[in-house]
Amino acid sequence: MKRVENINTLKYIGKEVKVSGWVGSLRSHGKIIFVDLRDKSAVLQLVFTPKEEKIYKLAQTIRPEWIISVQGQVKERPKGMVNPKVETGKIEISVKDLEVLSEAKTLPFAIDTSGYEITEEKRLRYRYLDLRRERLRKNLIARQKVIQFMRGFLEIEGFIEVETPILTKSTPEGARDFLVPSRTYPGKFYALPQSPQQYKQLLQVAGIEKYFQIARCFRDEDPRADRQAEFSQLDLEMSFMDQGEILDLIERLFIQLVRKLLPEKRISKIPFPRISYKEAMKRYKTDKPDLRRDKKNPDELAFAFIVDFPMFEWRKEEKRWDTVHHPFTRPKIKDIKELKKNPGKVLAHQYDFVLNGHEVGGGSLRSYKPEILEEVFVVMGHKKKEVREKFGHILRAFDYGVPPHGGIAPGIDRFMAVILNEPNIREVMAFPKTGDNQDLMMNSPDEVSEEQLKELYLKIVKPKKRKR
Ligand code: AMO
Repeated sequence: MKRVENINTLKYIGKEVKVSGWVGSLRSHGKIIFVDLRDKSAVLQLVFTPKEEKIYKLAQTIRPEWIISVQGQVKERPKGMVNPKVETGKIEISVKDLEVLSEAKTLPFAIDTSGYEITEEKRLRYRYLDLRRERLRKNLIARQKVIQFMRGFLEIEGFIEVETPILTKSTPEGARDFLVPSRTYPGKFYALPQSPQQYKQLLQVAGIEKYFQIARCFRDEDPRADRQAEFSQLDLEMSFMDQGEILDLIERLFIQLVRKLLPEKRISKIPFPRISYKEAMKRYKTDKPDLRRDKKNPDELAFAFIVDFPMFEWRKEEKRWDTVHHPFTRPKIKDIKELKKNPGKVLAHQYDFVLNGHEVGGGSLRSYKPEILEEVFVVMGHKKKEVREKFGHILRAFDYGVPPHGGIAPGIDRFMAVILNEPNIREVMAFPKTGDNQDLMMNSPDEVSEEQLKELYLKIVKPKKRKR
């Protein structure tokens, strides 16, 4: 017999079905045993009576979280027993056959609570159990719906999803790179992408015009509530569109997304306010203001764009100019002299996407004139020759003709955390790292064998004081 998902048993009243899933709570009323059977679709009540003697005996041994399969008749519950709080609350299965598929030890923590009360260490060590929690399952489903919506919307808008490499070369996004040693080229390293920034620009040189990707990004930074070493962006890049058109597209995408998937939410202001960086700092003392009218209301979404960021900021420790966003951002200058004269005064075609006081996205128009891009690197302290060595690939590409282009990358994890009112992006990721960057479930990072090190021509110099 083919297994039916719990929620679909409603269509089989009076008929025989086979259902499978996890044992939730167990109760006995006199001689009758009630079992809540959980699967991904719903919770369903099973009823075991002594009439089916063999099955009844076996039913007495089952424990919470065992995985079982049963066959039985779908029956309407007696009037007083209907539970309107449960989707399948008007029916139950009168069990005729029971098979135990997998027994389970007692779980290390409760899974029928929110889970906030359990330590991070425990939850992440047993993430596969933590994910049985209804809240987390709902978060994963919501995330999938959001991503699916984005894909559908962008396809209609004429965007093409293109995957870009994970084994790549260091991109200057302001964080430390994760490096991967090359076996074939001893002493050389790939870098994991901090974002697909350069690839998506090269796809504009390639004539793709409208690119997007649900992109995994890697940055070796200390995790925080809104930061993980590995995270996802809705990465976009487009040719021949000005800043206003790019922001309009994002605005349309998010308004439609909220209307379709989050009808209970209210957007504070449409069109989304576009506030200059200077104005934001003056009025709100932050470049990510929380513009909600009522900050206690969990269903209010205040989107905004912060525009006209300064192009450079002075790095005191390093005594040099650095770009506020990244070096590929286009400065607002009439000619290159202005850039050299007073970098601190130059504004950029850069914008941040802000939601309820969180930076949920960032982007810019790009320098597509090779001489301006080169000069930006020089202002940052690179020698001209070095620029050609490090960024020759992109400058060379631009020599072959490049359309004016720009893009943006909303952070999926941060957006999900805000709309689901979660305090930490870990709650919207399936397998996040701990606060100190470990995967306790897989025990990673981990040592590797001498053999593997040898193959990579690597030797470990033991740190004096070993970090955890
Ligand atoms: P940026 O570095 O501003 O831009 O990143 C864009 C968005 O990605 C999210 N984000 C993060 N989310 C979780 N953990 C992190 N460590 C993390 N870092 C960033 C944020 C942020 O707003 N290539 C450019 C985009 C562009 O110019 O088109 C970029 O990556 O929500």
